[in-house]
Amino acid sequence: MTKWDAKYAAADREGGGLFGAGPNEYLRLTCARRDFAAASALMLADGDGRNGRFLAGRGAAVTAVDLSAVGTERAREWDRAAGVDVTRIHADLASWQPEGSFDLVGLFYLHCEPVVRDAALARACACLAPGGWLVVEGFAKAQAARPGLGPPVPDNLYDLPSIRTAAEGLTLVEALEGDVRLDEGQGHRGLAAVVRLTARRF
Ligand SMILES: C[S@@+](CC[C@H](N)C(=O)[O-])C[C@H]1O[C@@H](n2cnc3c(N)ncnc32)[C@H](O)[C@@H]1O
Repeated sequence: MTKWDAKYAAADREGGGLFGAGPNEYLRLTCARRDFAAASALMLADGDGRNGRFLAGRGAAVTAVDLSAVGTERAREWDRAAGVDVTRIHADLASWQPEGSFDLVGLFYLHCEPVVRDAALARACACLAPGGWLVVEGFAKAQAARPGLGPPVPDNLYDLPSIRTAAEGLTLVEALEGDVRLDEGQGHRGLAAVVRLTARRF
């Protein structure tokens, strides 16, 4: 059982997911943009599935990948309950390769060894359809000094220069680092230093 399997297994089922029933706020805001549209989406490290489910509920054809078997099974249960269809794959982003291209690729709060994160980001950029959107949010390195929210390992956290470098071949829409008060389920609650990036393939 992975660390994440244990977290999802211990999560309160009544809360609607470890990170809440609704989507990540940055994803919701991006989807509300006047210029945003996505008929297909790939959600990397989708956990128990809030973000993939949200996009499927908006009519997108969604593929989602996560390392946690427990999280993926929970996600499938909640997809069924919500009446949406998401193709969920239990796999490690260290080696998983996407097939095809997507109008949106999302990566929310993947905190792992930089080599895996960088490989996932490179594949995310490579599988964007023309006009496609890359949307990323994760804890910033400053968060390591604030115990209780996010992993305490600075290497596994995000910084603006390296996330911008990862998206170098894309057209930058926004790249921000700052404090955001998270209110996303049992897992993400409180003031947090985060990095957000949106970029498009043109
Ligand atoms: C903080 S959770 C975020 C889940 C989801 N993105 C969300 O925002 O609700 C981090 C997720 O990353 C997944 N993860 C960590 N390392 C991974 C890897 N190497 N491959 C795939 N998923 C991974 C974990 O299983 C976990 O579900």
